[in-house]
Amino acid sequence: MIGTDINHAAHLLKEGKLVAIPTETVYGLAGNALDEQAVTQIFAVKNRPTFDPLIVHTDSIHKVKKLVQQMPITALDLANHFWAGALTLLLPKRELIPDLVTSGSPLVAVRIPNHPLTLQLLSSLDFPLAAPSANPFGYISPTTAQHVEAQLGDKIPYIIDGGACILGLESTIVGFEGGIPTIYRKGGISIEAIEQVIGEVQVKEHSSSNPQAPGMLKSHYAPRIPLVLGDLVKLIQKNKRKRLGVLSFQKYHLGVPIHHQLILSKQGDMAEAAQNLFAAMRQLDTMDIDMIVAELLPERELGRAINDRLRRAAAH
Ligand code: TXA
Ligand code: MG
Repeated sequence: MIGTDINHAAHLLKEGKLVAIPTETVYGLAGNALDEQAVTQIFAVKNRPTFDPLIVHTDSIHKVKKLVQQMPITALDLANHFWAGALTLLLPKRELIPDLVTSGSPLVAVRIPNHPLTLQLLSSLDFPLAAPSANPFGYISPTTAQHVEAQLGDKIPYIIDGGACILGLESTIVGFEGGIPTIYRKGGISIEAIEQVIGEVQVKEHSSSNPQAPGMLKSHYAPRIPLVLGDLVKLIQKNKRKRLGVLSFQKYHLGVPIHHQLILSKQGDMAEAAQNLFAAMRQLDTMDIDMIVAELLPERELGRAINDRLRRAAAH
């Protein structure tokens, strides 16, 4: 069921059931982070391997401090600056966080999401919510309640409808490996914005050989129809015999029916492009086409996170 009844959602969560929640980044599949049975259900519903840990969500820095052993000063600076927001911090966990949540890691990923309904829900609970993106493992993250309903509707009792996600990309994950601020997943808060607050950071690139690494497997966020990246004019020319879908940053191209072309932002605005990216990938994936051709955005600010998702979608 889809709705906006926060009390009903809270009631279900207190009973150990799962609820899909809106955030500013993507929709999450939430359960009581301190209840191993609820967390087990999250992995099962998503069909997610238990070696891929979950982010723990709450609504205040005060509550975060009860989940972690300490916060380095740089972590606190980032938290004060970007929370509630699309920033996830990796910090040493306290005992009360089940090992299942962190896949056995001594670090827990924590975030205060910025969505009024979910903040209201979190403030009414005396436990934090573990919530991965509310999609089957490996598929594109959901940015509307309808996306969640289409794939997980029959597996969970309630989906909170908070409208379309305003950022549209998952949170940026920052850890402090050896005391050095490190980006583990590019996301809704740009590296440039983070560096303005704490100075230079290091960036970990993803790896498929070491799935323990956050941000994880190279092939992810992937549509079922093969997606190929490159110069759109050349790709359209080269694949003339195929039925193509086009995922373009700003403009339409010759040689492909217009209803098979999706534009991320006519104005060339990266925030708008991020907002539209996952919904566009999902829409293309429903078309009667053989292949999706897509182009990268400028490799700066949100463009870096968008390009990361496009590359992973293409790695399928
Ligand atoms: O924006 C977001 O972060 C959304 C919303 C719902 O908050 N959540 C999200 O969760 O994207 P998920 O599970 O789809 O991606 C979380 C990523 C995974 O790649 C996981 O490997 C990493 O965070 N992660 C979680 N806990 C970790 C930990 N303890 N150590 C290292 N990586 C962790
Ligand atoms: Mg995910």
